Amino acid sequence: MGRTGVRRPFMDKIVIHGGKRLSGEVQILGAKNAALPLMCAALVGDRPTTFRHLPALTDVATMVRLLRSLGCECSYADERTLTLDPRGVAQGTFEAPYELVKTMRASVTVMGPLLARFGRTRISLPGGCAIGARPIDQHLKGLEALGAQITLRHGYVDLRADRLRGADFVFDTVTVGGTQNVMMAAALANGTSRLENAAREPEVQELAIVLNKMGAKISGAGTPTVLIEGVDRLDGVDHAVLPDRIEAGTFMVAAALTGGDVLLRDAPVEYMQAVIAKIQQTGTRCEAEGGNLRVVAPERLKPVDVVTRPHPGFPTDMQAQLTVLASAAHGRSAITETIFENRFMHVPELNRLGADIVVNGNTAIVRGPAQYTGSTVMATDLRASASLVLAGLIAEGRTEIRRVYHIDRGYERIETRLQALGADIERHHDAPA
Ligand code: UD1
Repeated sequence: MGRTGVRRPFMDKIVIHGGKRLSGEVQILGAKNAALPLMCAALVGDRPTTFRHLPALTDVATMVRLLRSLGCECSYADERTLTLDPRGVAQGTFEAPYELVKTMRASVTVMGPLLARFGRTRISLPGGCAIGARPIDQHLKGLEALGAQITLRHGYVDLRADRLRGADFVFDTVTVGGTQNVMMAAALANGTSRLENAAREPEVQELAIVLNKMGAKISGAGTPTVLIEGVDRLDGVDHAVLPDRIEAGTFMVAAALTGGDVLLRDAPVEYMQAVIAKIQQTGTRCEAEGGNLRVVAPERLKPVDVVTRPHPGFPTDMQAQLTVLASAAHGRSAITETIFENRFMHVPELNRLGADIVVNGNTAIVRGPAQYTGSTVMATDLRASASLVLAGLIAEGRTEIRRVYHIDRGYERIETRLQALGADIERHHDAPA
């Protein structure tokens, strides 16, 4: 507790006593990276939209705060069912302020919807973050191609357009958020748009599915070319969020690392082929059973080389977790990161716990098997924190992970779900030493 009596979740720690074999079943919950842009899509409708199977994560709560600040009414029927009524937004500020954008970059995904639906918006520029520079130039160029007037002042970008018009646009780089923003704007533009070099991630496909349910005319999502025939209005819808492929991948690694046998309920196997292929190369058995995925660890893990790529390649959001799996394998693995420039922040912490990982440019050379021994470590970003939890599961003795708020952004109650699989893990709410 803080002095005010209010719980300060940034004080939370996770404590793990490693060495337990994981077994049993875990339910894979709604995908954070699908949920956030879908919530923004509710802004382009002219009636309320309901999402089911939303994960209870701090990033979802941050998006609710942002949407409320815009005048969108957000009401929970239960923890996972949220109705968004955008009818009050017309009287709002159309602004995503610095405090929210700096907390969660996905806040910039309200830009396309607000511009298309209300003709204007003002967004704080996100700046860099722990894993790299992460500009939004492609979002802006795409919206400019649709006719937006853009002004940059005081760290904010101001966008205006009476009515967007359809256009052809080629992304210079594959960007998930950029594709989503431009796609949502083009859905309400006058005329047809053709987006080339679009991101093919499942979260782009899911957004197109929801927009089409709302009345949009989008085809080709999931391929590099997306065609969007603009319409005059979009309706509200009711939609269940797809399960989280990154959460599923993280539990797969937990099972493979600990000599485990775990059934992942509702894992979105069709979107996980690259991750499944790499985990199988370590000797781990991965078998689809109905809509579920069974993961059975081998006697001895084999090394694996990985290069992160846009979908359908190996996702950057699984890189840190796979690095831990590689570190437990017998031999040398090479992990290359091509999406973000600074995404090896977990490596020094893993080395403190006993890994042998050397980073050279954008490649980490991992020599295993690591003999991890528990210690106190700091979470630095969302997926890096997940990798520390994974290392803690196989470390001898006690591992204490601080700055757990990073994990809570993207994993719902990770400690209770790992506990249910047999891990010795708990959350402490007391202040750090
Ligand atoms: C999304 C995911 C994030 C994931 C990432 C890559 C959400 C909420 N987040 O982030 O978890 O790690 O995709 O799969 O869905 N870039 C530019 N200019 C731009 C936009 C991006 O140069 O205008 C660069 C970025 O700096 C990065 C690369 O493109 O190097 C990919 O970024 P992007 O796909 O846009 O990531 P996000 O949508 O922010």
